[in-house]
Amino acid sequence: MPTLIFAANWKMNQAPAAATAFVRAFTDQYVRRQDRRVLFFPPAVSMYAVVQGLRDRSDLEVGVQNIHWEDQGAFTGETSGPLAHAAGARHVLVGHSERRHLFGETDEETAKKISSAFRAGLTPTLCVGETLTQREAGETIAVVQRQLRAALAGVAAPILTSAIVAYEPVWAIGTGRTATPADASEVHLAIRAELRAIAGELGAAIPILYGGSVNRSNVQSLLAAPEVQGVLVGGASLDAEQWCAIVGGS
Ligand code: PGA
Repeated sequence: MPTLIFAANWKMNQAPAAATAFVRAFTDQYVRRQDRRVLFFPPAVSMYAVVQGLRDRSDLEVGVQNIHWEDQGAFTGETSGPLAHAAGARHVLVGHSERRHLFGETDEETAKKISSAFRAGLTPTLCVGETLTQREAGETIAVVQRQLRAALAGVAAPILTSAIVAYEPVWAIGTGRTATPADASEVHLAIRAELRAIAGELGAAIPILYGGSVNRSNVQSLLAAPEVQGVLVGGASLDAEQWCAIVGGS
């Protein structure tokens, strides 16, 4: 049975007390399923609360939304891979479009963060995706190929197989506009081809998630599309009941 991945990106929401309450509500409702993995990306200040809340649930995994590429040092305001790992993180988002477009994160920086994540024992979820202008100019595939190559080409193939990739068209994030399953699938197929070009046959094993205004109504049709192995969800993951419906749906 294929394993589906459901990842909740809480962005800058859910203080520790709210995160603890969310996790309690979710774990009361959600019964472990062998065919799915559930990942939580709380804000860094709430991560430890989520790790504590999930300590009896090995089926529910936790990560941070960002790391610095250096392991330690004088980088005020930053969190490193080793620090996040020591606090209980096992995953990290890299290259989220909000990091790229609001904070100017470059392809070179995503590459350094990917290496740093692997060094620290964190599974990186590399986010790629085009802006509306790039889509309208017919550049979607070229943009995601460039982002993938820049971030992953320097990593040895056997290590790369533990990575996750998320396709998140920038125009669909937080806008209520979702790519159709056919749109998503077209790009996922191109991502799969690029992953094979980078990592050979091992590239076939890297899960590719879709993200961008996923909710309980559209999740099933997106998951049914070819080469969609899971979803990365922002807004709709902030409500425990809706998140449970998204993750628990058949
Ligand atoms: P959204 O965010 O589900 O609110 O569109 C997705 C994401 O940014 O990961």
